[in-house]
Amino acid sequence: MCGIVGYAGHRPAVDVVVGGLKRLEYRGYDSAGIAVVADGALDVRKKAGKLANLQAMLEADPMKDASTGMGHTRWATHGGPTDVNAHPHVSSRGRVAVIHNGIIENFAELTAELAEQGVVMTSETDTEVVAHLLESTLEQAGDLAEAMRLACQRLSGAFTLVAIDAQDPDRLVAARRNSPLVVGIGDGEHFLASDVSAFIDYTRDAIELGQDQVVDLRADGVVVTDFRGQPVEVTPFTVTWDAAAAEKGGYDLFMLKEIAEQPKAVADTLLGRIAPDGLLRLDEIRIPVAELREVDKIVIVACGTAYHAGMVAKYAIEHWCRIPCEVELASEFRYRDPILTRRILVIAISQSGETMDTLMAVRHAREQGARVLAICNTNGSTIPRESDAVLYTQAGPEIAVASTKAFLTQIVAVYLVALYLAQVRGNKFGDEVAAIVRQLADMPHKVDLVLDTLEGVRALAEQFAEAQSVLFIGRHVGYPVALEGALKLKELAYMHAEGFAAGELKHGPIALIEEGIPVIVVVPPPLGRGVLHEKIISNIQEVRARGAVTIVIAEEGDEVVTPYADHLIRVPACPTLMQPLVSTVPLQVFACALATAKGHDVDQPRNLAKSVTVE
Ligand code: M6R
Repeated sequence: MCGIVGYAGHRPAVDVVVGGLKRLEYRGYDSAGIAVVADGALDVRKKAGKLANLQAMLEADPMKDASTGMGHTRWATHGGPTDVNAHPHVSSRGRVAVIHNGIIENFAELTAELAEQGVVMTSETDTEVVAHLLESTLEQAGDLAEAMRLACQRLSGAFTLVAIDAQDPDRLVAARRNSPLVVGIGDGEHFLASDVSAFIDYTRDAIELGQDQVVDLRADGVVVTDFRGQPVEVTPFTVTWDAAAAEKGGYDLFMLKEIAEQPKAVADTLLGRIAPDGLLRLDEIRIPVAELREVDKIVIVACGTAYHAGMVAKYAIEHWCRIPCEVELASEFRYRDPILTRRILVIAISQSGETMDTLMAVRHAREQGARVLAICNTNGSTIPRESDAVLYTQAGPEIAVASTKAFLTQIVAVYLVALYLAQVRGNKFGDEVAAIVRQLADMPHKVDLVLDTLEGVRALAEQFAEAQSVLFIGRHVGYPVALEGALKLKELAYMHAEGFAAGELKHGPIALIEEGIPVIVVVPPPLGRGVLHEKIISNIQEVRARGAVTIVIAEEGDEVVTPYADHLIRVPACPTLMQPLVSTVPLQVFACALATAKGHDVDQPRNLAKSVTVE
């Protein structure tokens, strides 16, 4: 949520910053802005709308050369997406410019205080208050880093802040509390960004800033301190992927590229975690085996797509490990005062590792004494840093706002955790674990097979571009798949879409069925729990009898469903618990194609941002 870029070095700062913003635009695209110091004064340009608007502005009226600069791409919280509310915000006497990701919770109190000093706000944002506060602090402290530290001590809420001082043009100072910020280390140049993709063209060496830290950045060095000015030890890391992974690579859309990358993402998530004897080696899970044996309940916390991955995982965890498992929306978790003990394992699932709702759930769980294991895709992000252990999904960067490859790899990662628990607790014999691991290892190939057969799904989606509403139904693990299919359609096609447990239809939602309404049905494998298959056939008949057009996703060879399907989408046969890994893929493609047919911006759907760093 909001992308931040900063640069100090030997290249033209404006080009580096705009290039970085392009890479970070997925984090927010309500407005964009940039600031440099030229001829001893701040030069700030900002524009509502996508980055292209700012670029057009810069083309028409280029900024002067500078070696230090910062930029911002916004997802609006306080104040609408206007030119005035766009960042950077400039202090009243024009000395300091500030960009911000997060929310300053005490901004009203600070605004009142500044008003008494005669400061008049020009925007509706919470950020502007920081620019004024920083300027007055700087006038007393005389040094931007010290002023930032003092100002941060007065702020509450979540923030990454970057500031530039017109009287100190070769330097950027940034602060971090609860919002992401990484520093890129180059040769005679340094970078700041919300994530590494902003500077991956220049360096793969980075450091992640910790909580409540300030970084003082110049071309020739960085100094990191805490908010009191004490030096802190930093942990450098090397980014394992390259610039090409953050490019579209010949695809029209990031989403299409990421859908196509799913077989590799699943394979990479398994890589190195299966021993030659077929058992699991999860060295990353640094929770002692003795403690894992004592776990008497698992609670999964996550949001959106990651929550759906958790819902899928619940079926596997309870079936394989015989441990009760609850799945909870992270945004609800801490507010219902959950009962947590040392014997409860909380699994937090997050692609970005920065989702504020999930982070707050993690903190609450740990405060209450539970162990937290993170399933995350972003190295060094906040959620894994604050958890007891982490298992990384290896999906590579996911840029499209709609999550695709992260979902599949989250399912695989939680399955690995579940099997590992079953292995160390003795719920399954070694040969049973190895047999399921073999099923998982077959999945990249099966996902590949699905990808080869999706032309018909694209054509079908286009036919339904004018539908008022689309319903999705499923049973067992097909139920969260139905929810995920509906979420994809909502966020990309802006259509009414709902997912239901198929058995629940008759308790109310069946009243939504009317002539011609498309109902997408995720059919469980007939060789799984036979009864599930029979029951869903009945559910299909119920909706058809009331006029629905059925689009049925069923495995190859399942001929029983054929008479009940107005449209049939085939997926390879898989064991029941593996089916979400194939049946989700046509739903991703369906939503993507339908949104494209409607002319929507698929990679950057309206009102959304990739990582949601506010509660
Ligand atoms: O980064 P996270 O996995 O924590 O993100 C959670 C949700 O915000 C995310 O999955 C969201 O629902 C997706 N945009 C859905 O496609």
